Amino acid sequence: MASGPDLRTQVGIVGAGPAGLLLSHLLAQRGIDSVLVEDRSRAYCEARQRAGVLEAGSVTLLREAGLAGRLDREGLEHGGIYLQFAGERRHLDFQDLTGRSVTVYAQTEVVKDLIAARVATGGHLEFEVSGTEVADLDTGRPLLRYTTREGTRTEVACDAIAGCDGFHGICRPSFPAGLLTAVEREYPYAWLGILADVPPSTDELIYAHHAHGFALHSLRSPLLSRLYLQVEPDDDIAAWPDERIWAELQTRFALPGWELKEGPILDKGITPMRSFVSSPMRYGRLFLAGDAAHIVPPTGAKGLNLAMSDVAVLADALAGLLGGDPRRADAYSDTCLDRVWRCTHFSWWMTSMLHATPGADTMEAALQLAQLRYVTTSRAAATSLAENYTGYQPPR
Ligand code: FAD
Ligand code: DHB
Repeated sequence: MASGPDLRTQVGIVGAGPAGLLLSHLLAQRGIDSVLVEDRSRAYCEARQRAGVLEAGSVTLLREAGLAGRLDREGLEHGGIYLQFAGERRHLDFQDLTGRSVTVYAQTEVVKDLIAARVATGGHLEFEVSGTEVADLDTGRPLLRYTTREGTRTEVACDAIAGCDGFHGICRPSFPAGLLTAVEREYPYAWLGILADVPPSTDELIYAHHAHGFALHSLRSPLLSRLYLQVEPDDDIAAWPDERIWAELQTRFALPGWELKEGPILDKGITPMRSFVSSPMRYGRLFLAGDAAHIVPPTGAKGLNLAMSDVAVLADALAGLLGGDPRRADAYSDTCLDRVWRCTHFSWWMTSMLHATPGADTMEAALQLAQLRYVTTSRAAATSLAENYTGYQPPR
């Protein structure tokens, strides 16, 4: 006789990135229990260098969930950015244009805070699992299966499953064949990102357009800088010794009277860039959120913020569904995709305006410069950029 499931929970969550972790908190706040499984170790999840800019709405969400103690103490509020092009650096004042700002606080810190708070409140988190599977998705009792770190194969009976397992996860491929539509674009460039042990050389982020390619000066704290360089998509990090990285950053940010301070590089890596939207974001009792359903190129810092706004919608949708009202769950995919497409457009637009395309004609660079002059001189154009950067919520 087949044995029944080993565990029972209301929501099975796959993935301990920002989406899965925040969802487990938002559900707990609504009195809904969950089991979250992650195939990496806790230390790995807490160290993975990724995004760093939180929209005002993401900060509010974390604050309202009681998760912003350290963010409020250590996060750096930024009221604007610089756009650098044609030998000039122009400031865009988001506060003046929209009354809103963003907060620089690393994704690694968000993840550490979310894990610590979940562990402190007795949340069920399982790291270093393997063989994750989801099944019976079109029934009222979907199943989550995994092998624990100790090697025990485990089956969890759930009311719903949240696929928060990123672009390479197993949840999106678990949709029945033919149900998903994926729209995708790969870009002919990648970002080389470094974390450097040196105080930032700037008070606000600098997005630089340069003939050699895009560069971004961001930061992590008053003592740590985060910088990015556009490189070739197939570039090997071994071809970028520290001296070459600094030399290229010096060239792309050069401005008379301004100095880029250098320091030891603590972490470096290359990330490919793509736009990808898969829809719908739900099949039966399986709901996708964050990078599992969509990817944006990093220019404009939307990936993390989209993951967080998806799960804010999902927590309410699941609370309704489990309480007997399926309306928000039925609307989940369309509700999220409105904002996903807005951010997909913004990220594509910022990427296209700022990167040098290999082999492009002189027309492309001239059009980029025309657009950069427009967004830094027209209040209407600047306001549109600022509204999107600080977080635009399409009306429903
Ligand atoms: P993830 O953070 O990817 O979390 C998914 C989790 O699921 C991971 O922990 C993964 O290990 C786990 N998982 C996967 N498969 C399984 C499985 N089978 N079983 C169990 N667990 C599984 N955005 C920006 O805005 N700016 C940036 O500079 C930036 N840099 C980035 C650099 C890199 C290398 C990457 C990959 C992304 C970057 N992003 C950036 C995007 C941003 O970090 C993501 O949008 C954000 O992490 C999405 O959160 P998520 O929780 O949806 O997915
Ligand atoms: C960072 C990343 C981004 O993609 C961006 O547009 C701004 C800042 C960062 O990692 O700090």
